[in-house]
Amino acid sequence: MEPLIDSNHDKNKNPGWIIPPPKEPAKSKEEFKKEREEKVKWLINQGFLRSERIKDAMLKVPREEFIPSLYRDYAYLEVPLPLPGEKATISCPHSYPLFYEHLGLDKSHKFLEVGLGSGYGTALAREIVGHDGLVVSIEIDPLTYEFARKNLENLGYRDIILVKGDGGLGYPDMLSYDRICITAACTEIPPPLIEQLRIGGRLIAPVIEHGVQNLVLLEKSEKCIIRKVICEVLYIPLRGKYRVSEE
Ligand SMILES: C[S@@+](CC[C@H](N)C(=O)[O-])C[C@H]1O[C@@H](n2cnc3c(N)ncnc32)[C@H](O)[C@@H]1O
Repeated sequence: MEPLIDSNHDKNKNPGWIIPPPKEPAKSKEEFKKEREEKVKWLINQGFLRSERIKDAMLKVPREEFIPSLYRDYAYLEVPLPLPGEKATISCPHSYPLFYEHLGLDKSHKFLEVGLGSGYGTALAREIVGHDGLVVSIEIDPLTYEFARKNLENLGYRDIILVKGDGGLGYPDMLSYDRICITAACTEIPPPLIEQLRIGGRLIAPVIEHGVQNLVLLEKSEKCIIRKVICEVLYIPLRGKYRVSEE
């Protein structure tokens, strides 16, 4: 599998991806469904998508419903698309199986997401963990939070815990988490998140090191934390207490 540079670059500062121009949406539900099915086949062929639960979730969740209308027709292109809020983007399609397959996200997991964005990754996670699991997602930007909340509500996702605030602090009310995913780049993985991960749990995050962003997977054991670098990625910076400094 070729490591791809992910789409979540800082669109105000680092135009690493070409965002298509805004336009009135014209595609039908059927066209989107066909594109979704083709995208899933492509993700399998590229080696990003392997497990049945993640595949079923990606076939079920209509990604176009999480995208502002002027960008909706581009829903299944491998590009980041802008969301309401400061620098927020919906990640390109391959990044979800990239994160969730490495996390081993599965039925019954208690999952914490830092960076709700559009709510698309949250809906996928909800489908994957099922009704025996739990999804908590935190968003720092009030505009982005509201956008995602409405998207999830419109599609009937009412059993997800959505939190407006700094995800770097985690969400101690629902301790402890089987899996944690950070969808913004950090220079250090916020220590509260490592604390809130259960023994045997996994955390995935884009980490800035030596001038690049590496997708890093942590596995917490009784005695130590095992760390693995998956590939290079490109995400918008984390805000809040553990924000990336601008220098
Ligand atoms: C790449 S986007 C997330 C994409 C999202 N997974 C989706 O499916 O649309 C990263 C998000 O992280 C949010 N963010 C940045 N710092 C944060 C923090 N400290 N706590 C919570 N959210 C944060 C940004 O506002 C942005 O919405």
